Amino acid sequence: MAIREIIRMGHPTLRQVSRPLTIEELDSPEIARLVSDMAETLHHAGGIGLAAPQVNEPIRLAIIDIPGGASRYGEIPAMPLTVFVNPVIEVLQQEAAGYWEGCLSIPGLRGFVERPQHISVSALDLSGKRFQLELTGFLATVFQHEFDHLDGRLYIDHISDMKNLVYEDLLELHLGSLNNSGEPNVLD
Ligand code: NI
Repeated sequence: MAIREIIRMGHPTLRQVSRPLTIEELDSPEIARLVSDMAETLHHAGGIGLAAPQVNEPIRLAIIDIPGGASRYGEIPAMPLTVFVNPVIEVLQQEAAGYWEGCLSIPGLRGFVERPQHISVSALDLSGKRFQLELTGFLATVFQHEFDHLDGRLYIDHISDMKNLVYEDLLELHLGSLNNSGEPNVLD
């Protein structure tokens, strides 16, 4: 296991469409090492999700690991460490809600992004077996944020009012200046 460098906005890999993995590649030592390094990197960074392009591997693979419960993200549902290969999102309901998102590739900033809050995800696991998940609320946002990385998109692309892109240490000050009683929900 090794901690890999998380590349930051401006690195061209973050803006490219990543390639799908073949079934044959899934049980290669390279992928096993990548997944184990990504898990260590994610835990070290204190995030809840990491996509392969964020460690400069332009392939369609991402991991999510959410301890759940009370956290600096607020009260959130748990999701054990899960690997998603070639994931596809289907929006089940267009109804959207907004969260203050952050990203390990855009350190120090938070932005308010509205996304659909009811989706289903279809992906392969590392044995090549397809599985499906239905997600609502905060988790629906987390998965859309994470899988956007596989298509070269960042959360800032979804901010409709750029006044809602702020430094994280000024988020509370910013919220206090708005007629906004909502809780600051953040993720990365
Ligand atoms: Ni991100």
